Amino acid sequence: MKVGEQLVKEEIGDNETVITNSAQTVKLDQAFKEHSVAEFFKKNKQMLGFYGKVRTLTMIVHEYITNSLDACEETGTLPNLDVKIDEIGSEYYEVTVTDNGPGISQENVGKAFGKLLAGTKFHRLIQSRGQQGIGCSGCTMLSQMTTGKATKIITGRVGKKPISLEITIDPKFNEPKITNLKELDKNFVGTAVQSKFKGVLYRDSEQGPLEYLRRTAISNPHAQISFRDPQGQKIVFKRTHNSIPELPKEIKPHPKGITVDEIITMVKTTKARTVQGFIISDFDRTGAKSISELKKAVRFDLNKDPKKLVWDEAEEIIRAFKNINFIAPSVDALRPIGEEQIRNSLNSIIKPEFLTVLTRKPAVYAGGFPFQVEIAIAYGGDAGRVTTDGKKMEIMRFANRVPLPFDAGNCALTHAVQSIDWKRYNIKDAENSPVTIFINFISVHIPYTGAGKQSVADEEEVLEEVRLALMNTGRRAGIYISHKKKEEENQLKRKMFYKYIPEIARALNNITNFSEDEIKTKMEKLVLEKLKLDEAEDAKEMKKLEEQMENDEKSSLNVENKKKPRKK
Ligand SMILES: Nc1ncnc2c1ncn2[C@@H]1O[C@H](COP(=O)(O)OP(=O)(O)O)[C@@H](O)[C@H]1O
Ligand SMILES: [Mg+2]
Repeated sequence: MKVGEQLVKEEIGDNETVITNSAQTVKLDQAFKEHSVAEFFKKNKQMLGFYGKVRTLTMIVHEYITNSLDACEETGTLPNLDVKIDEIGSEYYEVTVTDNGPGISQENVGKAFGKLLAGTKFHRLIQSRGQQGIGCSGCTMLSQMTTGKATKIITGRVGKKPISLEITIDPKFNEPKITNLKELDKNFVGTAVQSKFKGVLYRDSEQGPLEYLRRTAISNPHAQISFRDPQGQKIVFKRTHNSIPELPKEIKPHPKGITVDEIITMVKTTKARTVQGFIISDFDRTGAKSISELKKAVRFDLNKDPKKLVWDEAEEIIRAFKNINFIAPSVDALRPIGEEQIRNSLNSIIKPEFLTVLTRKPAVYAGGFPFQVEIAIAYGGDAGRVTTDGKKMEIMRFANRVPLPFDAGNCALTHAVQSIDWKRYNIKDAENSPVTIFINFISVHIPYTGAGKQSVADEEEVLEEVRLALMNTGRRAGIYISHKKKEEENQLKRKMFYKYIPEIARALNNITNFSEDEIKTKMEKLVLEKLKLDEAEDAKEMKKLEEQMENDEKSSLNVENKKKPRKK
């Protein structure tokens, strides 16, 4: 056995190791370098969702818009957002987004736009659009990578003169570089950002910026969004709701939704002086009862300093948490859009013939994360996806009011729609119907399947909630559609009868010599009576259908409930 192998065996106890000769080792040592997070994302921009020419441009708009909406929400401002996209060359565009939010202080503006993984939202369990702090700073980097140009910003706060500046990121240190900083002698409260990008493309498609903004307007009825496209066309999505949404509440993590690593991170900053105190004060739903159960389950003293907690002890805590019955997490931190607001915005933007909206009660997934589902089904009008093959079913997915236009196939929300047997709801050939299904999934923590944040993971409870909401709204839509079909059939019947009455009256008059007019009047009366009878029959049939659908839904609910008891 070689010396190195012997060493590994003794010191680490592993019998697999790779031995290199000394020249290779020196070369490897020289090649060993550190990289900043900015350098990492510069090489891996697809991880930020920046891939595909059309998708990239939409993602840029998304990053700026979500920040503006978050900022306005936090300071209780009704958002007025202005988006402009200018084509300045081949696959070369300039994006300008202006908001009337709180603005950013001179001290923080550099970090906000010029440092990756920096921001105000990362360490909070709160229902917000941004989470990681790699949104607008990612755009700054993409802009400088593709054009060599800086991002221009004007930002103003209440009671202060606005400032204008240009920002780039020094990728080596992931630090902002600010140039041309000036104070402006104007009145402006809010933030305007302007940056240029090459290798991107504007398309007026389902995955383009205009559709993204249309959907943002639908899920944010309190926002006014104006957009000027590269052709100079201006589109304004007016606000349909005038009150500012209540600010989402920040919540503490629930013991069932925590990991060992998170405990280790939390103890570093806790103000508590004992592990017991830390568990009571830094978690949701913990108290004397859970502490007494925890005491029995762990082998160390809960009075120890939490800063001295080691990995194995944190692991013991997590194991114990699994067996303790905690009250389900508080759900009052969630802020749904609301049925009336969704109804108003869909009526204003999609103008459907029929619309049904449902906001379900909050539920919990993975034991520790509260969430809530909102569904609407719109039929007719501008509902459905326009294709060369006619109208198709359109699924609009949202997470915390943010449209998710990409990666539909991977998403629990799509899977739930696909799992519904629409024929049962009398929506035959649902795929080819003028239907828009709106789904908003809200949570303090969205279980995204990837860093691109475009699809929700198949959590069992999430699938179940979306399915139940779809069954309920699907039934209402189905009843409307059946009524409408019957109506159309009856109209057709009426038309046919009336078309032939004059001919029959004439023929009967020839044979019988009875007055043609009299025959006509009598026949019309007869037809009316017959149609009335038919309609009564139809109404009876519809009622039966409604009852049947309601029973179907109830029995699916029972099956689901038996499978997995709902958490209180
Ligand atoms: N339009 C804006 N108005 C106010 N603050 C903003 C705006 N845009 C960005 N910020 C600040 O910059 C931070 C970083 O933004 P970003 O990189 O998009 O990350 P995230 O949104 O995930 O926090 C935000 O957390 C916020 O504090
Ligand atoms: Mg953001």
